[in-house]
Amino acid sequence: MRSEPAGSPPTPGGADHDPLLGCRILVAISGSIAAVKLPALVSALAQRGALVRCVLTPSAARLVSPVALASLSRSPCHLEEDQWSHRAPRPLHVELAEWAELVLVAPLSATSLARWVQGSGDTLLSSTLLATEAPVLAAAAMNTAMWGSPGVRRNWEELQGFERVLTLGPASGLLACDRQGSGRMAEPQQLLLGLETLRLHGWRRDWQGRRLLVSAGPTREWLDPARCLTNPSSGRMGVMLAQAARFRGAEVDLVHGPLNLDPLLLEGLHAYPAESGAAMGETLKRLQPAADAVAMAAAVADHGRAAPEVRKLSKQDLLATLSGGWCEIPDLLAELVARRASGQRILGFAAHSGDVLPQARAKLLRKGCDLLFANPIDRPQAGFGVSSNEGWILGPGSRERRIESTGKFSVAHQLISALGALLDPLTPPAEAPAEGLAAGRRAAADP
Ligand code: CTP
Repeated sequence: MRSEPAGSPPTPGGADHDPLLGCRILVAISGSIAAVKLPALVSALAQRGALVRCVLTPSAARLVSPVALASLSRSPCHLEEDQWSHRAPRPLHVELAEWAELVLVAPLSATSLARWVQGSGDTLLSSTLLATEAPVLAAAAMNTAMWGSPGVRRNWEELQGFERVLTLGPASGLLACDRQGSGRMAEPQQLLLGLETLRLHGWRRDWQGRRLLVSAGPTREWLDPARCLTNPSSGRMGVMLAQAARFRGAEVDLVHGPLNLDPLLLEGLHAYPAESGAAMGETLKRLQPAADAVAMAAAVADHGRAAPEVRKLSKQDLLATLSGGWCEIPDLLAELVARRASGQRILGFAAHSGDVLPQARAKLLRKGCDLLFANPIDRPQAGFGVSSNEGWILGPGSRERRIESTGKFSVAHQLISALGALLDPLTPPAEAPAEGLAAGRRAAADP
């Protein structure tokens, strides 16, 4: 099983099928202290084979070194004073705007937000944003009071209506100005997922106003305080599903067993840890009524102890005990299907060795879910603990679609599209939702 240390921004979707490979990404950095996180992100993008250029506002150039960014991006870094030059045949903002396949504005300060929304092109960064026709990922960062001020709220809400723009509102935490509250820029892991979403799906929030319930990871059934029955699921497939839906506008509840993933990948989700099958079942039952759709990606252990030992068993006693005292864990997916309200759509998973399809077809019928993603676990680069996957989407009914080997985030987007296609159309919300991703944007859906 691959373990992922916290801190380094890995390839969230999987290194072997990287949607950012060869992509021309313009990184636009404005004046917020969160700019200090950008050199590591630029380095990560360049190492993944993206073609990166950076543009900085004068304030950003005081916070991070343009020389470091030029070196890490392997490309000249563009500053305010570069905009107009008698040596350049074309205005720099137009050249950069047309060069970019994707633009990342991070951090987006209050000032740069205001310029952008008001259509003011009085700086290199703001005129580049006005001139580009590429999809843009914008990650705001500022002091809590600034973020809450009426002018910033108004500008941010207006930005939500911009075509081709995906926004990431700030997260809460301790800010560099010593305030505790909303204002921290989304983590670099989230910025990478946002850029990948723009490549894999685009900027449209087709899950806006929806709520998705996802289960992920293994469960643990304790034998005694020192031993448990579990499996090698890392939780990656479920977390990628949750993030794909969240970036497409959904509110997502994630019920998860012990994950072997960078915890920063959970940002923006409502996460509910649940270690055992029973705990997972209880939490799912509580959250199910609010969900428009459910994705059951957890690898639930099949059996547990009727009465786990309170004291650690000796190895001889352990062997003797294992011959009896087991109980079957209820089929949580079947329970969800039996309890669901009309219109709720459910996706199940089936990991198999050998001939996957016949087993999966039988499982789809047995479980009664709308869709089933069947994947092999005995092929390299598929199944447990790796960043890629392959398989078949079965359903609805007898429909079957092959998914070739690709990154798990790409599989996740394809599954979210398949699940979304089954949902009933939303009734228009009373007032237009207008909020960034991290700040939460539930418009309708609680039945
Ligand atoms: N599942 C569940 N509760 C269980 C076991 C499985 O909800 N106790 C769900 C999984 O989350 C998955 C689907 O059922 O979405 C299929 O899981 P799988 O382990 O393949 O199926 P089982 O029912 O355990 O059947 P078997 O292991 O015999 O193939």
